[in-house]
Amino acid sequence: MRKVLVTQGKGGGPKTATARNLAVAAAVAGQRVATLDTDPQGSLTYWHSRRPQEATPIEADQVPLPRIVGAPMPIAGIDLLIIDTPTAVEFFPEATAILFDCADLVLVPVRPGPEDLVSMEGMMPYIRSRRRPTRLLLSQTSRSRQTADARERIKDFGAPAPVEIPHLAEVPASFSRSLGTVEISGTRTGPLFSDLWTYVADTMGVTR
Ligand SMILES: Nc1ncnc2c1ncn2[C@@H]1O[C@H](COP(=O)(O)OP(=O)(O)OP(=O)(O)O)[C@@H](O)[C@H]1O
Ligand SMILES: [Mg+2]
Repeated sequence: MRKVLVTQGKGGGPKTATARNLAVAAAVAGQRVATLDTDPQGSLTYWHSRRPQEATPIEADQVPLPRIVGAPMPIAGIDLLIIDTPTAVEFFPEATAILFDCADLVLVPVRPGPEDLVSMEGMMPYIRSRRRPTRLLLSQTSRSRQTADARERIKDFGAPAPVEIPHLAEVPASFSRSLGTVEISGTRTGPLFSDLWTYVADTMGVTR
């Protein structure tokens, strides 16, 4: 079972939107997927609990970060575990280190904007110190100077994914429907999350 850790220092990262949409994209692509919600606020768990019966099957578990005491055990029949994290993971250094150390890939969503980039810069030394394969995902982008600047800036922090997720109302709308945008026809971000899964799979050496 491969594990993707979705984490970022800043609240509203967007960690959960990335975790749930990547989980659905991977499941639609044929992976047997589970999610692990370590955010005590439980928004990923809320989203999962309301998924329509006909939606692509995904398993879900919730263990709040303060209660993580060991690496997630393999789950029978599951190929991929996507782990969502709360903001301010630094308050729980032992649990956070456990999650980093078990991760096959650390995926760090970053929004353009000065606060997010400063937060990202602050967290990068810690992320590097864990020595796990790490990729950045520029998300909530727009055709703006701010996005263009962020595109340049994040190259200093680490390897950016070759996919960006634009800022579109369809993403929060998919939360309300407990779907991934991949499951909603006509979305722009659905195919992009599929591309992100392809990239993540290739980065981890998953046979597709
Ligand atoms: N690409 C997008 N376009 C528009 N809105 C988005 C996009 N991605 C995320 N959002 C919205 O931004 C908000 C924050 O996203 P999300 O909940 O994923 O962040 P988070 O990092 O999990 O936040 P927290 O630190 O509170 O857990 C949500 O309302 C979400 O629907
Ligand atoms: Mg969240």
